[in-house]
Amino acid sequence: MSFDLVFFGGTGDLTWRKLMPALFQAFRHGKLPEGGRILAVARDEQTDERYREWLKERFREVDGAKRPSDEEFEKFAALIHYLCMDLSKPDSYQTLKDWLDARNADTVVLYLATSPHLFTGICHQLGAVGLNHDKVRVVLEKPLGHDLASAQEINRAVRSVFAESQAFRIDHYLGKPSVQNLMALRFGNALFEPLWRRESIANIQITLAERLGVGTRGAFYDGTGALRDMIQNHALQLLTMIAMEPPSSNDADAIRDEKLKVLRSLKPFTPESVGRDVVRGQYRAGNVEGVSVPGYLDEVKVPPDSHCETFVALRTEVNNWRWAGVPFYLRTGKRLAERDAQIVINFRPVPHKIFPGGGQANRLVIKLQPEDGLELQLLAQKGTGAGEQLTPVSLDLDFDKAFATQRVGAYERLLLDAIAGRLNLFVRSDEQEQAWRWVEPILDAWAADASGPRPYSAGSWGPAAASALVARDGFSWAEEQ
Ligand code: BG6
Repeated sequence: MSFDLVFFGGTGDLTWRKLMPALFQAFRHGKLPEGGRILAVARDEQTDERYREWLKERFREVDGAKRPSDEEFEKFAALIHYLCMDLSKPDSYQTLKDWLDARNADTVVLYLATSPHLFTGICHQLGAVGLNHDKVRVVLEKPLGHDLASAQEINRAVRSVFAESQAFRIDHYLGKPSVQNLMALRFGNALFEPLWRRESIANIQITLAERLGVGTRGAFYDGTGALRDMIQNHALQLLTMIAMEPPSSNDADAIRDEKLKVLRSLKPFTPESVGRDVVRGQYRAGNVEGVSVPGYLDEVKVPPDSHCETFVALRTEVNNWRWAGVPFYLRTGKRLAERDAQIVINFRPVPHKIFPGGGQANRLVIKLQPEDGLELQLLAQKGTGAGEQLTPVSLDLDFDKAFATQRVGAYERLLLDAIAGRLNLFVRSDEQEQAWRWVEPILDAWAADASGPRPYSAGSWGPAAASALVARDGFSWAEEQ
């Protein structure tokens, strides 16, 4: 199957940091279909050769094991071409079309790795030159809009040119192997499903914690904040995969229909409940792994009076028969104590205790990163004699060790899926809009509240109010137990 993969934003950060290295991995693993061409599109006038040299330099910054040798790069670079385009000019799109038509590949993937404010214009221009025919797919990188209205505007533009089945909206969390294993855990095994409900589960915690600060992305981040950057998309996608009903098949729409139902069942926020159930924070200077780091307000290109949140913790519920009354706690932040993405399922304690000891409950930890694995915490006796208390003990599964094979990274998986036309791991427009609908009252309440985010020290787990949010229900975050 021949394919042409076009990167709009061909000299941008996303392309050289994530997309090209991911494609190179696919190439190295022999997973890239034969007969592929990769076309980087950007404004600079340059030749294929100069672009390849530029990319080779950038590749030196790629993670050691993922960096190509000179020989590997030469082979990979032979697939790469460059086209100078002014994205505001119709002629440029005709040049692109001519370039693609000259070969007429089986599949054309147009990846919009540009600033999202260009998406609408690019889609219209692609449609105007007929680059929306059946063989074409368009990949849209996040952030997809800034709020519901802007997301709807982008979706309208996409829909006026492409069918929904041609639109691949990326949420790179869906490409992580651990997230696919979450589906496998729930729907490829019969063990947990009978317990996966309010009768057995006390609460669910989703944590996406980062040690890094905003780095050089201050200008972008300050107009975005943690709610839009991580909760509206990554955290909510994880929540849907935890809470969804078993889909009727493994087809994209069967899965996305179920995810959408979860998003529609989320308890809506009101101005009062935002005050009670959502905590926003902003990091101050502190210490991360023994190194002093500046506060958010001292980061490059961040206004000194910014109210942008770098931390969010919230409590919500899924209002349906399976989950009624079970708190779902979502939490994300920059400059936290750990780099740690995990989902913790806290089961209910035994209804009647016959052993001495703390009455702890079972816990299933789905680890997304840095490790990718599952940990099931049980209670057992050490066997030291009569009167012994129960001790927590873990069944620990590390997927990298268990499978010891080359596993496919998130962008690699998603790029290969886009080329193959598999939509399962991409977000449908109605899901994405529903996620914005749910998040908007929080944005509105914050806009009307001059008090701003609560400070927290870099290297901590966020403002104390985040602990209080969970403690109010008689629970605690996993690291506090
Ligand atoms: C991106 C956010 O979507 O996800 C970044 O824009 C964040 O701010 C990143 O750092 C986290 O992704 P990962 O895969 O490193 O957890």
